[in-house]
Amino acid sequence: MIRQRVVLITGANGEVGHGLIEKLAAEPDPPFIVALDLNELAHDLRPLVNRMVIGDILDTKLLETLTTEYEIDTIYHLAALLSTSSEFNPETAHRVNVQGTVNLLKLSAEQSASRGVPVRFLYASSIAVYGMPDIATKQAAGPVDEDRFLNPITMYGCNKLYCEHLGRYYAAHYQQLAATRAVGVDFRCVRFPGLISAVTVPTGGTSDYAPEMLHAAAQGKKSYAAFVREDTTIPFMAMPDGIKALLLLARVPRENLTRFVYNIASFSRSALQLAAMVQDAFPDTAITFKPSDARQGIVDSWPADINDSAARKDWGWVPDFDAERAFNEYLLPTIKGRYASADSD
Ligand code: SER
Repeated sequence: MIRQRVVLITGANGEVGHGLIEKLAAEPDPPFIVALDLNELAHDLRPLVNRMVIGDILDTKLLETLTTEYEIDTIYHLAALLSTSSEFNPETAHRVNVQGTVNLLKLSAEQSASRGVPVRFLYASSIAVYGMPDIATKQAAGPVDEDRFLNPITMYGCNKLYCEHLGRYYAAHYQQLAATRAVGVDFRCVRFPGLISAVTVPTGGTSDYAPEMLHAAAQGKKSYAAFVREDTTIPFMAMPDGIKALLLLARVPRENLTRFVYNIASFSRSALQLAAMVQDAFPDTAITFKPSDARQGIVDSWPADINDSAARKDWGWVPDFDAERAFNEYLLPTIKGRYASADSD
C-alpha cells in the first residue's frame, strides 16, 4: 500500500501553528497537512488541514499509528510548555518539552531509516536558551551569537537547549556504534525571539507582556499593567517573519547549512518603547509597569539583541518587518480588523 506523504505539525493549535498552517495551506501546491495538538484546532484552521489528530506527543502508541498510516516527510515540532508555565510545573515541562521531542526525533530516525531519505525535522527553539549572568553583561554584550551565554535559568530554556543538542545527536551521531549507520534525521532549528501575532495571544510565556499590551489596547481595555520594568529589552519578531524563517529554513538545501541551530532576529525594543507604539495607536488604554520579580528575572536573563548573521549568510534570511513596519503594516491593521469583526459577531 502506498502511504500518503505528509507534513506533521505538532502544537498545531498554538500561535506558530496558526501562522504556519495558514501559510502552508495557501501555497499553490499545498502539502497534505496532519495537525497534532492536545486540543481541537481553532474553527478557522480546521478546513485548512487534511487531518486533525487530537492527542499527546507523549503517547508513543499514537505516534506509531501515525507512522503506519503516513509517510512523514517533514515535521514542524512546535508543541511545548512555555517559560512561565514551565516554572510552575518543571517536571511536567521536562516531560512534554524533552521526552516529547525525543519521541518525535526517534519517530523521524525510524522514518528516515525505512525510507532511505532523511526526514526533515524543524525545531522551534527560543532565546530562552540564553542566560545572561547580570544586567551589566546583558547591556554590554551587543548582538549575541548562537554559542555564547548558554546558561539558561528556566526549565524551558534548559529543555530547549538540550533538545537542540538532541537534534544534532539524532542527525549526526544516532546509532553511531551500529554496524551500518542508518540515514540520520535532517534536523534544522531556529531560535525564535519573542513572537508577536495580531491574531492570537500567547499563553504561559515570559515575553507575553508585549503581545498582551497590544491585544489589551486593541480590545479597548482601560488599562494594562506590564509585568516588567520599562527598560526591559529583548528581541521580538512579527509572527509572519517567524513563519517565513521556518519555511525558508525548511527549504534550503542541506549542503548550504553550516550549523543545526540558527538565531533569527528582527527588532529589539524596550517595554517602554513598545508601550509608546501601542499607545500612539490606542490612546485610550493606559499602559503601566508593575514588575513581577520572578518574571522580570527571567527576561533579564535573555539577551537584549541576538546576532543572526549565520542565518543571513547560509539561507538568505532577512526579516520583512522592523518594529515600525511590524506595527504599521501588520499588527495594527490586522488587529483592528480582528477585534472589529469580533464586535460585530
Ligand atoms: N515566548 C517564549 C516565552 O516567553 C520564549 O520563547 O516563553
